[in-house]
Amino acid sequence: MARLQIKDVVKRYGKTEVVHGINLDIEDKEFVVFVGPSGCGKSTTLRMIAGLEEISGGTMSIGDKVINDLAPKDRGVAMVFQNYALYPHMNVFDNMSFGLKIKKRPKEEIKRRVEEAAAILGLEEFLYRKPSQLSGGQRQRVAMGRAIVRHPEIFLFDEPLSNLDAKLRTQMRIEMKKLHRRVDSTIIYVTHDQVEAMTLGDRIVVMKDGHIVQQGKPLELFAHPVNTFVAGFIGSPPMNLMPAVVEGGEDAMKLKFEGELVLPIPAKEGSQISLGQKVVVGIRAEDLTLEGEQPGLPEDWKVSGVVDVVEPLGNETHVHVDLSGTRVLAKCEGRRIVTPGDTVKMEANLKHLHVFDAETTNSIY
Ligand SMILES: Nc1ncnc2c1ncn2[C@@H]1O[C@H](COP(=O)(O)OP(=O)(O)O)[C@@H](O)[C@H]1O
Ligand SMILES: [Mg+2]
Repeated sequence: MARLQIKDVVKRYGKTEVVHGINLDIEDKEFVVFVGPSGCGKSTTLRMIAGLEEISGGTMSIGDKVINDLAPKDRGVAMVFQNYALYPHMNVFDNMSFGLKIKKRPKEEIKRRVEEAAAILGLEEFLYRKPSQLSGGQRQRVAMGRAIVRHPEIFLFDEPLSNLDAKLRTQMRIEMKKLHRRVDSTIIYVTHDQVEAMTLGDRIVVMKDGHIVQQGKPLELFAHPVNTFVAGFIGSPPMNLMPAVVEGGEDAMKLKFEGELVLPIPAKEGSQISLGQKVVVGIRAEDLTLEGEQPGLPEDWKVSGVVDVVEPLGNETHVHVDLSGTRVLAKCEGRRIVTPGDTVKMEANLKHLHVFDAETTNSIY
């Protein structure tokens, strides 16, 4: 059983604390993605799991065993690094089998495991090439192969795709998902790329400044971000986040934005919004369209604005609009043609409205 438990784990470099007591349970065979901006502590956390960094406080356990003081090779984990770390003078077969040779596994077993991994990764033809004779994508596969041959209970990936070009990255994302099914092991995957996180993870753990901000299934995070950080980080293009003040009466609260824009707040159970409160309002670009694209919305969810910038992407168009002093990004159907300077009627799906307290940045609606 490869259930990993992280309890109050702290990392300090000298006097500087960079991971501040994180708690996380990762189930056997789960695919968990750590995502967050550069410097938030993703690699440090992964390296503590691998045993490459000492744990300054708290405990980590795999199954029932505390691993804090266990040597990396005894943890049943294998790590794939961003820069692949292949041995340049060894061919693919030797790179992949190196760890098993060190462990003095029998020759036939080594051959069998390398061939099995090569088949999973489509590397059979390249076993006798040196890394310099491989493309970036192939080197990346060799690095994964080196982990696979060890039959670890937990795979650790640190930004494994970030050195590949965009197209190859998309392909390798699909490969990663297939790999998870084939190896049937726990995967912990680190990335700063929210698209990778959304597409790969059974569960996403969002980190910021050495803390876990939120964790959950990709679509849970997308639908219910706990604060403005997660709201702005998850989803592409990023959510519109706009300052506003709550006005109106108790039973008909309104959002008064900068400039003239006013929108109603549909009544909702559990809402903690109060009159006069300063808030940050979140509306995703796909919930904000040109009139007619979301039939059936109430009249007071419609507003007019002036088109500022148009970015056609073919299948859709990103339209930057000035709504009486509040600038927003709307995602519209590809075929609709609008030009900068046009006055347009927009409609906002306020069923998907997000409201955050301006001071705490936490979700309050
Ligand atoms: N060996 C080190 N000594 C001192 N500080 C470090 C060391 N390694 C990482 N850090 C600091 O720890 C923080 C987290 O780093 P890291 O885990 O690499 O972030 P991420 O992988 O999320 O980009 C950063 O502020 C970084 O500068
Ligand atoms: Mg890192």
